[in-house]
Amino acid sequence: MTSLPLHDAVKNTVKEAADIVEVIGEHVALKRSGLRYTGLCPFHGEKTPSFSVNPQEQFYYCFGCGASGDVFSFLMQYLHVDFPEALKQLAKKYHVDLPERQLSGADQARMRLREQLYAVHEAATISYEKALAETRLGAQAREYLRQRGVPGEIAGQYRLGFAPDPAAAGWEYLTRILRDQGFSEELLVQAGLSVIGKKGGHYDRFRSRVLFPLEDMSGRITGFGGRILGEGMPKYMNSPESPIFTKSRQLFGLYPHRKAIRKQRRALVVEGNFDLLLLAVHGIDNVVAPLGTALTRDHVRLLSNYCDEAILLFDADAAGHKAAMRSIPFFLEESLGCRVALLPKGHDPDSFVREQGRGAIEALVGAALPLAEFALDKLIGEYGLTLGGKARIVQELKPLIEVAAKREQRELMTSHFAAKLGVSTGYFTGASASQLRVPARQPEPEYESGQNAPMGTIPTGLKTLSRQEKQLLDFLLFWPEYCGPLQKAGLAEIIHNQALQHVLGLMVTHGADTARQPEYLLAAPLEAEERTYIVARLMQPPLPTGDGPSASPEQMFAQLLLWVRQQRQQQGAARLQQQILEAERNGDSRRLLELLRAKQLHEEQKGDFPS
Ligand code: UTP
Ligand code: MN
Repeated sequence: MTSLPLHDAVKNTVKEAADIVEVIGEHVALKRSGLRYTGLCPFHGEKTPSFSVNPQEQFYYCFGCGASGDVFSFLMQYLHVDFPEALKQLAKKYHVDLPERQLSGADQARMRLREQLYAVHEAATISYEKALAETRLGAQAREYLRQRGVPGEIAGQYRLGFAPDPAAAGWEYLTRILRDQGFSEELLVQAGLSVIGKKGGHYDRFRSRVLFPLEDMSGRITGFGGRILGEGMPKYMNSPESPIFTKSRQLFGLYPHRKAIRKQRRALVVEGNFDLLLLAVHGIDNVVAPLGTALTRDHVRLLSNYCDEAILLFDADAAGHKAAMRSIPFFLEESLGCRVALLPKGHDPDSFVREQGRGAIEALVGAALPLAEFALDKLIGEYGLTLGGKARIVQELKPLIEVAAKREQRELMTSHFAAKLGVSTGYFTGASASQLRVPARQPEPEYESGQNAPMGTIPTGLKTLSRQEKQLLDFLLFWPEYCGPLQKAGLAEIIHNQALQHVLGLMVTHGADTARQPEYLLAAPLEAEERTYIVARLMQPPLPTGDGPSASPEQMFAQLLLWVRQQRQQQGAARLQQQILEAERNGDSRRLLELLRAKQLHEEQKGDFPS
């Protein structure tokens, strides 16, 4: 492999010529700090700089996300290009001659193909631009754009073009022009500009359409989106995937708008190409549009290189909601801020800005709801704030919280959602009955520091349930409506088994709905062991046979109520006793007196519930 050392030699020459600070500095604001430069990491969202570039070593490193490498890997990661492409760009920038044979055969072939694809897209763009601006064929497209409120200078700025109507221009309008310029038909097909007909001939893919050139982050055109003139199907047609075009990564407008987005640290995300154009017409230029797909994770990551926050400017319809909801995990995973602005019904940003102007869009953006807030509102709208509704909402929010990249983000969301729903934060992290109970009516017993709670170790699984606890669970599985009254009697205070707490917690949220069968719990987030237990329980008759063969639900309830009260009293007495001992040991006579009074009260109350 003689090409390898040569390959390395070229790489080293380019690397020596390139200034890593300059290259990275074009994309990241860097500040000198001693021997290195620091800035906000472009590979993960952050507010305080943990990205550092070392010019001596020609190396960058992020303490936050661990991204690291040399000038090549930076460009590869940042621009989503492969090594030959990064090498080529740098060679060009630093005026290093790149003899082609110094790349491996496969690399060379790939690079040449990409080069040709870029070239043919540029040539196509020029032809389409001409067709729109200068030809008789373009008159109808010019009229169309005029009607849609797009002036010629905006069309020029975005290099809009027109693929003429085949009735007037034939089916090979572009194909012929490009062929005459020396591009092979094979290349035209690979670029997606021509398609092969049934008889083997080549004809134009785009016909009777206004064309939007799509640029990569180096500003080269890699594909097109095309809007049919007037009615027709499909309304939009995009270039097929190619070695230089990946739809799920492409954001229309990001390249021309990157500086505005960086400057404002915010990007507006709209759904349509014309939405973006019309906002630009009205002076709003920090806008991007995915190509008819919901935002992908790649989109969000790409955006996070340019701003701190995205504003989704979506239609108020169900599809708009859905698109916003689907993108939530990506924003959380990439730690990019996101808010949602919903347009009035029947409007898209295009029609809205045309009707109401720039100020109305700005007001909408200003009032946009944080994505998490939006999700919560939507879930509340869907499930309501009944106990059952809250349980469903918690269930849907939990996975959203779990994907958030940062711990503080998760904690913030947890406490925020919990407060909004009026449930304890513990319910989001691992629900338990005691955490769900309404605020304690009486203060919790205090334990001196270093002293264990009187109950000792806490059993976790359902296997360790006492006979009474098991009876309680078996009964409540079928009669969840008794959960509330037992809770009121202080059930949560006497249950220390974590699994039981968890299942009871789930029941409380469903308990309002009396006609429930235990199956409802199986839709809840259960541990495997809990699920097994409940499924097994489903196979048995509803009423437990523990105490008397023919107990009615009311009788069972009465028995359990009694048990709860007794347990509370016993545990309360045990706790008091321990505190009394402690006070004696410490010679704290005031506290002792207090505790003895409490004990007396306790014993008097016991009389109310004879065992
Ligand atoms: P919409 O169907 O919402 O249309 O498509 P729009 O943007 O309001 O279109 P106009 O205003 O009638 O021109 C939103 C975006 O989805 C993509 C396009 O990028 C479009 O701008 N799309 C739509 C497709 O890729 N294919 C289609 O068939 C339709
Ligand atoms: Mn529209």
